[in-house]
Amino acid sequence: MSEYPFFFTWTAQQGAKPFALTGGQGAWFTTADGSRWLDLGSLSYQVNVGHGNKRIVEAIKRQADELCISAPNAVFPAKVELAERLLAMAGQGFSKVFFTLGGAEANENALKIARLYTGRLKNVARYRSYHGASMGALSLTGDWRRAALEPGIPGVVHVQDCYCDRCPFGQRVETCKRECATNIDATMRLEGPKSVAAVFLEPVPGANGVLVPPPEYWPIVRKACDEEGALLVADEVLTGFGRIGKPFGYQHWDVVPDMITVAKGMASGYATIGAVIVHERIAQHFEDHVLACGLTYYAHPTACAAAVETLKVYEDEQLYANSARLGPVLVRELEAVAKRIGVKSFVRGLGLLAALEAEATEAAWGRLGKELAAKKLSLHVDGKRGTAIFAPPLCIGEQELVAGVRSFGDAAVAAFGPA
Ligand SMILES: Cc1ncc(COP(=O)(O)O)c(C=O)c1O
Repeated sequence: MSEYPFFFTWTAQQGAKPFALTGGQGAWFTTADGSRWLDLGSLSYQVNVGHGNKRIVEAIKRQADELCISAPNAVFPAKVELAERLLAMAGQGFSKVFFTLGGAEANENALKIARLYTGRLKNVARYRSYHGASMGALSLTGDWRRAALEPGIPGVVHVQDCYCDRCPFGQRVETCKRECATNIDATMRLEGPKSVAAVFLEPVPGANGVLVPPPEYWPIVRKACDEEGALLVADEVLTGFGRIGKPFGYQHWDVVPDMITVAKGMASGYATIGAVIVHERIAQHFEDHVLACGLTYYAHPTACAAAVETLKVYEDEQLYANSARLGPVLVRELEAVAKRIGVKSFVRGLGLLAALEAEATEAAWGRLGKELAAKKLSLHVDGKRGTAIFAPPLCIGEQELVAGVRSFGDAAVAAFGPA
């Protein structure tokens, strides 16, 4: 039995890798043995503003002193301000926010809202996706995490991905007909006309390899959804709040989704909160139809205060712009790493989210994990998928980033062998 009196997630308990986190500052976190780690993964992709932000901690304290307990129907300033700020970020046409405690619940409630609004049962999502661990969100999820709990909720249909480096349609991005997007249209029609409630897509699939879509992808899917009367849900849990260089990831393309699900960067991990941001045309339906969704801890006051302050920090420190500016630096440095290692590899990235995919053995990936630990570099390394994913706090400096990725390169050369 593991020595700890609680479970670790997504692992047999014997395989858990606990680390004694004590705090941090900016792009760095500290552990109980006094080490300082460069956080190139924002812990679980959530610490967008960086560690140790005093402004957010103070905002939580002020809110706790003023009003610490709430009820779902209660109204207080931080709740109103947070909703107004999220709607302003999403732009014209979005009119209501539904609050949750995290990302899975945001997708869970988006599923319910889509079903209540359309009266339809089916949903479309992609194989290389993660949408959360609750039963509905896990059913949308396409990656390995769904398998252990199948069958999930009925009616979820998975489609192939926008995986240009290994196109599932055997195409090359220079000459393809964007089959990754048009197959969503075809799938919806084959499933039965007007039967799909919603299509759930991460703007850029994150944990599954940073699969940046071609520019036409989202517009094609938007058009297909319009023709079928299906809703388009942008799962921005990972990509939102500047992660890929825009406030919301879908804003890279000329599209407007029907719902946006958010969590992680919304309060940067300083409190547990998420949301579904809902377009006016759907919100209107619930003026005279019951919104059969609810949570005891709907819009918890301290979480609302943390999120409001987080959104102010993004603005004041211009963190979305920093992500956009440093994105090409991250990709450039990873391309230099790719040239140094003795295995075939691909680099993909947008804003401060990037992947190095390498055709190395699982043993070599294991060696990489050890090398990175020795260098005190924290990031998401997945030997089964063959990817290392970079998602540093958006406050990271250019020098810190470059030094971190070069140090990663040394570890990769030691683990995979030189070119
Ligand atoms: C794209 C995406 N959606 C949803 C989730 C689930 O969020 P949570 O873990 O807060 O439930 C995640 C978490 O990694 C995610 O990356």
